[in-house]
Parts: sequence; C-alpha cells; structure tokens
Amino acid sequence: MLEEAHLRSCDRIIDVGCGTGTLLSWAVSRSPGIKATGVDADRQALHRARRKMPPPNVVNLVVASCYRLPFADDSFDVAFCSLLLHHLDDVEKEATLAEIHRVLAPQGRLLLADYLGIDSSLAKLRFLVVRCLDGWRRTRFALYGHPAVLLRRAGFVDIRETRSWSTPLGPLRCYRATNTRLRRQSCDRAVDDRQHGGGTPCRPYRFLLPAETAQHPGPWRRFTDQ
Ligand SMILES: C[S@@+](CC[C@H](N)C(=O)[O-])C[C@H]1O[C@@H](n2cnc3c(N)ncnc32)[C@H](O)[C@@H]1O
Repeated sequence: MLEEAHLRSCDRIIDVGCGTGTLLSWAVSRSPGIKATGVDADRQALHRARRKMPPPNVVNLVVASCYRLPFADDSFDVAFCSLLLHHLDDVEKEATLAEIHRVLAPQGRLLLADYLGIDSSLAKLRFLVVRCLDGWRRTRFALYGHPAVLLRRAGFVDIRETRSWSTPLGPLRCYRATNTRLRRQSCDRAVDDRQHGGGTPCRPYRFLLPAETAQHPGPWRRFTDQ
C-alpha cells in the first residue's frame, strides 16, 4: 500500500482503523517529513501503536470512530484504510468512505485494502473463519459487494485495483482512488437514525458542487435534505 501511495515528504496522511500502527510506523520511517495521523476506536491498540513509532514520536494518534472522523474537511493528502471494512456493516462502510472523502483534500488519494471480490468456492471456504469471527452481515460485502461502486458513490474517481494477494483466510485486494472536488450527501444521518432505533437505509446520494456547499455553513454543511 505504501508503494502505491507515492508519498511526498510534505504529505499529510491518515490511517483510518490504524490498529497498532504498523503501516504508520513504516510510513514515517520511509518518509520522515510526512505529517501522520492514526485513528482507531480501540484505545489499547493506539497505546501499542505509540510505542511502535520511531523517534521523534510525532504521529498524531486519535481514538475515534471511523464514520465520525474528528477532522476538518480537506485535512489530508493521503488516506489508508486497511482491513477495516470487513468489521463494518454496509451503512457503516458507506459512512466511513464518505468521511474519508470529506477529510481528504481535492485530488487526495485513498489506498484501501481488504478482503474483497471473493468469488471462488475455495476462497469462500477460507473466508469462513473471518465470517464467523466478524459476523455474517459485516462480511457479506466481501463476497457480493462491488468495491468500485462503493468508492464511486462516496465521491471517488480514478478507481483502480492495484494489487491482490492470497492469504490463508482469503484473497486481499488493494484499491487506489482519487478524491474529487465534489461533495456528497453523507450517510452519517442514516447511521444516526439507526442508532436511535430507526433502522433507516441509506438515502440516495446527491452530489453538491462547492458553490452549493457554501450555502450550508457549519460542520454539517455537506448534508442537505432532498
Ligand atoms: C484488523 S484491524 C486492522 C489494523 C490495521 N489497519 C492493519 O491493517 O493492520 C481492524 C482495526 O479496525 C478498528 N476498528 C474497528 N471498528 C472501528 C470503528 N468503527 N472505528 C474505528 N476503528 C475501528 C479495530 O479497533 C482494529 O484496530
């Protein structure tokens, strides 16, 4: 994933669902000038990540949910998201990609890796272990979902599968996608509604042009009622 990112020394990077920070530690070792941030819901994992970072320990590690990233719009140039999606249900996947799209600067790059596009019977059999551990509903996308469609709906363009490799638990695929300047209505509200007992499915998307987003000031300006 790091190779695909082509990091420059001035890049601001974020690893969403960074876990114990292996990718971040490699990134700051290879490109010492970058400004690195890791986000994970698990505080213990971030404690371990902190110990892993090479000195000087300048990586910003934040406990937060991936579908509610505590950063302003356009805060990063490169986002990594590795082995997180299969922990999330379909609404959470969409909300997470929407958040990543929001915090990425225009033309920012997303590098995504996960169990995706599992189609052969043998791969499905291997993937059963992950399905049992992480839940049937959350892992269904790996078999039947279309990563490019999900990324496009979040507002990404230039979507490419860059690499795939086989593991004992199933095939991993890496995608690279580019942020557009367009903003879109997020699924966050659907997640909110559901958390308050609604069980609401995602609403259809509507892309907002930059001029339109200006009409919706404040942190929620990217949301509109249709
Ligand atoms: C399999 S680990 C992957 C860690 C790392 N990205 C890697 O590739 O090694 C998945 C990580 O996602 C985190 N995670 C799961 N659900 C999350 C959520 N809703 N928000 C933020 N992080 C989450 C977990 O705490 C865990 O550290």
